[in-house]
Parts: sequence; structure tokens; C-alpha cells
Amino acid sequence: MDLIENPLTEVITIDGPAASGKSTVGLMLAKKLNYLFLDTGCMYRAVTLAILNRQVDPADEAAAVHIAKTSSIDIASAKGFDDGRLYTVFLEGQDVTWEIRSPEVDAHVSLVSSYKEVRAEMVRQQRLIAHDRAVVMVGRDIGTVVLPNAPLKLFITASAEERARRRLQDRQQQGISASYEEILADIKRRDIFDSEREHSPLKPANDAVIIDTSQENPNEVLDRILSLAAV
Ligand code: DC
Repeated sequence: MDLIENPLTEVITIDGPAASGKSTVGLMLAKKLNYLFLDTGCMYRAVTLAILNRQVDPADEAAAVHIAKTSSIDIASAKGFDDGRLYTVFLEGQDVTWEIRSPEVDAHVSLVSSYKEVRAEMVRQQRLIAHDRAVVMVGRDIGTVVLPNAPLKLFITASAEERARRRLQDRQQQGISASYEEILADIKRRDIFDSEREHSPLKPANDAVIIDTSQENPNEVLDRILSLAAV
């Protein structure tokens, strides 16, 4: 059963390209307002990891859809962990918080998330999680498709170069060696793929407020959003 959209007014959607800082800011916002935080990218990442773990070809759309529909994905807070995570992601009960950030998942997640029925299943689960709850939901299509009636919609972006620099920093903090050029190329590739795909492409909703974070730190962005939310 598809639930109707969250009827509460306490819904904030945040969309934007990879590594724009939307998850960091979204979590700060959710904590400040005491709303549920849901980063939907981690769900597409968990499905991609499930596909790779089963040694299924990510280009096999039917198999990907089957895995999306039958995998158990859970998201919990970061409580009890002191390793820099924003939240904890479980796939079939296993903690995969860091595995879903691997270069292998990065390389295939755009393709997997372009499949119409994979998206339909994720959207169904996202609406279910958000139903009847105040929520900050982060992704690519939240303001346009998942929760189009949200009263406050944000589109957070930054230059590809700045986003690559931030992602390199994340990788280094995790002790993973990476090159700036490779990360930048991957970010540009994903930007094109995510914004040009047929189903639910990455784009701001008509009524979204666009925030460029290239020159701002997360606290400055948060203050700007809180004034928009007028709380
Ligand atoms: O935000 P992220 O980098 O963790 O997202 C991973 C991928 O998932 C990204 O390539 C686009 C896709 N995605 C999507 O298509 N729709 C969403 N609502 C969230 C993420």
C-alpha cells in the first residue's frame, strides 16, 4: 500500500548533487529541530552493495529490482559510535555504514538508482519512514517526487571542485588513499548521469530555495535555513 504524503507541515526536503554538504547540514538541522533525519542516498547505496555482495551484474536491471524489493535496509542513529559516522546503516542486519561509501559502490550506484522500479521501491520505503513524522529528508528527488507538498524545499549545491575537495578530505579521514583528480572526475560523471537520467532526474523543485555552499561553512548554511524555516 502506498501511503499518502506526510500531512504534517514539519517536512523539510533537501536535494542536491553529490558531496554538496546536504547530509551534514541536514543532520544538523534535524538535530536542532528534533526532526527525524533520513539521507535517502544511503538506501540506494545499500541496494548497490547488496547487488555487488551477491556478485550480480549491476547492469542486470531485473535482478537489481528484485534485490531492491527483497533486501532489508535499516537506518539508525550514530549513537554508540565515535568514528565520524552521521548515522548507522544496516543491510540484512549487518552494519554497512562504511562499506556503502566504497569506491565500488560509488562506481555503480548511479546506474542502480536510475532503474524505475528500484526508485519506486525506495520512494515507497521513504514515504513509509516519513509518514506522520516531522522529518528532514535528503536526496535528489525528495522535493520533486517523494514529498512534493513539503512547505520548505532546499536545493544545496557547490562547485564540483569544492565538492571534490570535501570528498577527498572525507576519504583521508577514513584512512582511504584517493586522488583529487579521480574524485573530481567521478563527481562530474555522476552529476551528468544523475541530472540526465530518465526517471526522477536531479533538479531543483520549482519552489525550492537554492543554496550554494561553495563559500559557506555548515554553521552559516544552517543559520540561513533556520531563518527560512522561521523557527
Ligand atoms: O547522496 P549520495 O551520493 O549518497 O547518493 C548516492 C546515489 O544515489 C547518487 O548517485 C544518486 C542516487 N540517489 C538518488 O537517485 N535519489 C535519491 N533520493 C538519493 C540518491
